[in-house]
Amino acid sequence: MSVHGVVRPPGDKSISHRVLMLAALARGTSEIRGILTGEDVKSTAGVLRQVGAKISPIRDGVAVTVSHAPLAPLGAGSRTTHDARLYCGNSGTTARLMLGMLAGLPGSATLTGDASLRRRPMRRVTEPLKEMGARIEERGDGLPLTIHGGKLRGLTYSSPVASAQVKSAILFAGLTGNVPVSIREPYRSRDHTERLFAHLGLGIHERDGAIVFEPAVGPSGRPAAFKLSVPGDPSSAAFMVAAAVLAEGGELTIENVGVNPTRTGFLVVLERMGAQVERVNLRDEGGEPVADLVVRPTGLRGTEVTAAEIPTLVDEVPILAVLASRARGATVFREVGELRVKESNRLELVAANLRAVGAQAEAHGNDLHVAGTEKPPRGKVETAKDHRLAMAFAVLGTVPGADVRLSEKKSVAISYPNFFRDLKRCFA
Ligand code: S3P
Repeated sequence: MSVHGVVRPPGDKSISHRVLMLAALARGTSEIRGILTGEDVKSTAGVLRQVGAKISPIRDGVAVTVSHAPLAPLGAGSRTTHDARLYCGNSGTTARLMLGMLAGLPGSATLTGDASLRRRPMRRVTEPLKEMGARIEERGDGLPLTIHGGKLRGLTYSSPVASAQVKSAILFAGLTGNVPVSIREPYRSRDHTERLFAHLGLGIHERDGAIVFEPAVGPSGRPAAFKLSVPGDPSSAAFMVAAAVLAEGGELTIENVGVNPTRTGFLVVLERMGAQVERVNLRDEGGEPVADLVVRPTGLRGTEVTAAEIPTLVDEVPILAVLASRARGATVFREVGELRVKESNRLELVAANLRAVGAQAEAHGNDLHVAGTEKPPRGKVETAKDHRLAMAFAVLGTVPGADVRLSEKKSVAISYPNFFRDLKRCFA
């Protein structure tokens, strides 16, 4: 099958969460365009509404307005009473970043989520937040947990994991607590929070490799209301890029894709594997670089993906592994242990599902090994309701002779509600 035409990926998930949170803290009414309408972002909006923010309905093609900052004690003027129970759905970003934001606000809240989210580690954020003075009641390393926000002290922190969620939770706590924070990470993770802070004039800079936030002098760390457009999500675009690379002919344009270098490891590795992805119309959108991508089908060769590259493509490992299974030779992903604690155990499930469709793949310790094959992929795939597994294997199902059956398809609504429509469109 050939690809052709133009697709536009949905708004960036990471940026959508952060922009909603900052708009909820801002003085006045903010207006956001291009926000992701996926379930995860709706979880953040729901939680912010519960703590007092007014957010208009999140719908495709409609600007979202956000007002009424939740800086009053939790629950004041909102639907909840003092001890709010905040449901974060499937969204790790909602849970971890909200913990940071709530740490510096007066009041108490219990955070919980679906079965997948309740299994995910939270100590990576509760530990630094407790060091800042937040009181947190935990029952093990996960949700549900209760946070009592209030007065915080500054923090200098070296994170053991390269996690933008950990870094951002601390930055949000610094903002709402009006205290300075400094964070180091083993490898630089996505820097959307830093860019947004800078764009909104909040005191952020880099000093000797550390990210430093220093609140403005004065009582409140609240930004002024703003207008902003969210760029398209490179992690969602990656599935369309992959479909085009694997196609038998044609050319696909993917419009309005965020190309922040902390997110484009997928494109770097793909180019090393032999693919041609042209970036055209490079521009700036709210402090983020954006481009259109032009992709043509190509044969691929295996490669080694290094530990330092992983944070720049952490959500793209499933689709890169799928591409590696169609490449000439072997591919290895180094130090991808973090994939065990994503929406599912992605390390084991990517390998098991590739084997289920007739490819060779295996996790050795924290490394993932994939061998390329020309055999058509055939078999049943267990998505474990993980959106990125569903989309990665749906793309594998587009290669000639494939018969890939997914255990479910609904999970794509977490990050890319129109995924199947767009996939169909580029082959139509
Ligand atoms: C995200 C950071 C990453 C990523 C997730 C979104 C964010 O998680 O996997 O999908 O928006 O900050 P970690 O911080 O756990 O690496």
